[in-house]
Amino acid sequence: SPSDPDLVERARAAKEKLGDKVFVLGHHYQRDEVIQFADVTGDSFKLARDAAAKPEAEYIVFCGVHFMAESADILTGDDQKVVLPDLAAGCSMADMATAEQVAECWDVLTEAGIAEQVVPVSYMNSSADIKAFTGKHGGTICTSSNAERALNWAFEQGEKVLFLPDQHLGRNTAVRDMGMSLDDCVLYNPHKPNGGLTVEQLRAAKMILWRGHCSVHGRFSLESVEDVRARIPGVNVLVHPECRHEVVAAADYVGSTEYIINTLEAAPAGSKWAIGTELNLVRRLANRYADQGKEIVFLDKTVCFCSTMNRIDLPHLVWALESLAEGNLINRIEVDKETESFAKLALERMLALP
Ligand code: 13P
Ligand code: SF4
Repeated sequence: SPSDPDLVERARAAKEKLGDKVFVLGHHYQRDEVIQFADVTGDSFKLARDAAAKPEAEYIVFCGVHFMAESADILTGDDQKVVLPDLAAGCSMADMATAEQVAECWDVLTEAGIAEQVVPVSYMNSSADIKAFTGKHGGTICTSSNAERALNWAFEQGEKVLFLPDQHLGRNTAVRDMGMSLDDCVLYNPHKPNGGLTVEQLRAAKMILWRGHCSVHGRFSLESVEDVRARIPGVNVLVHPECRHEVVAAADYVGSTEYIINTLEAAPAGSKWAIGTELNLVRRLANRYADQGKEIVFLDKTVCFCSTMNRIDLPHLVWALESLAEGNLINRIEVDKETESFAKLALERMLALP
């Protein structure tokens, strides 16, 4: 839907008033009405890398979800304040691993006698607590654009990986990109005693996958891929690695949101694409390339927007910018010092990956 011109003007005016005091970051899944005000847009990795790119900015307005704003706070100076325009913009996947559950899991691994061989690798889509756990136990963070490099690094440090919290990214990277077998992976269910696993299963596994998933990407199915191939002959299927294994195995290309954008930018006129990722991004790309003769469709019309990404809308952004312009610091995301120091260790290991 087109942006309300009055709100557009108010956002523009508040941003102009703030000048260099504000730095607006926008994830690719944000609405068009919001993304137009971002100084930097990116995938999770790029936004983590660039969060500290403007140290003179007192405020970082994060148009994305809670774990991204936390990571930006961890990676920026103490005098920079990170603001999330709607505090209800969480991530259901990140919520699937709590600090208590992960501590309990570590106890299970310790009792099985394998904790010393295990290196945790946590997806960016996790709370600061989980990142701190990861840093404390010698592990690294990864995103969908560097998961293979993170896993290669981890397997140089130890024999096994505990991958949190997205089972699909973990399994897809291990099996599709690194040649492991499905049998090398076990699924740890935090709602069952001992994760629902026997000591023998834990000892035999190379990849211990946390039972978490993305509620949006989890809805693309093998059937969606088969349907689109039948409907559009010659179509290229391009999906995000948060999709289920059978979807990723049936796709032609797999990668992060930034990879998806770059792939479509480089695609020749006349090519056809079905994209399995969040709808705001797919719509934007379909519109952007329509007049260049690139046909871009959504992989499955029954899948919806990410509802929490969508919580950041133009009214919330206007409210945040106007409040800051009036000197009211609202919706600050601040990670406590103890958590921050260990989480930062894990994030810096990711940023230092070759
Ligand atoms: P990327 O932008 O890193 O591909 O992440 C996708 C995502 O789900 C963020 O929530
Ligand atoms: Fe979380 Fe999935 Fe939404 Fe990304 S798309 S923020 S992983 S629920």
